[in-house]
Amino acid sequence: MREIIENPVIEEILTRQTIRTFTPEQITQKELDTLIACAIKAPSGRNSQPCNVRFVQNAEMLREMNIDFKDKIGWDTPAYTRWDTDPFYHDSPTFAVIFAENESFMDAGLMTENICIAAKAIGLGTCIVASVAPLFEGETGAKWKEKLGVPEEWHFLIGICIGYPDEKPEFKPRDESKFIVIK
Ligand SMILES: Cc1cc2nc3c(=O)[nH]c(=O)nc-3n(C[C@H](O)[C@H](O)[C@H](O)COP(=O)(O)O)c2cc1C
Repeated sequence: MREIIENPVIEEILTRQTIRTFTPEQITQKELDTLIACAIKAPSGRNSQPCNVRFVQNAEMLREMNIDFKDKIGWDTPAYTRWDTDPFYHDSPTFAVIFAENESFMDAGLMTENICIAAKAIGLGTCIVASVAPLFEGETGAKWKEKLGVPEEWHFLIGICIGYPDEKPEFKPRDESKFIVIK
């Protein structure tokens, strides 16, 4: 076992986990503003700030997005991420979608982790969602990019479900053998 420093930030990083069951209540404006403040502070290459984020809080819009998504990829996709029973956004009241003009996956990843750790620190749960990518391609992509007010040529990078957790899953295992110190 590693001996580590106790600290509130470290604690939130170590206890974050994916949440896929949320209560129906919407998060507060102050909570959302806190997440946005932390997202904006994410580092980016040469401070290029490529990420454009849409926080969708319209339940009807999310339902329609899910129908378009499932119609496109099929309603019986694998159970690991509970696609077969859940909508892609796991019924979260807020779904953040990150777009960029280029394929800035690294920058989007850093912003995503800022949002997830900040959310954890204020009692919210998150689930990062890459699987919805096909929705933002082709005809459905044109439709939803227009509805979300983003140019058609922008790339979908990642989505994040956000809400109050309504489950306490087991922590997923990690492979310690991938971390080697060379002195
Ligand atoms: C890039 C990325 C894409 C992911 N896509 C999905 C997804 O489409 N649907 C989903 O339910 N979970 C998704 N996840 C969540 C992972 O399954 C989860 O982070 C992983 O199993 C580890 O669990 P933990 O976050 O609880 O430690 C994604 C996570 C990452 C980092």
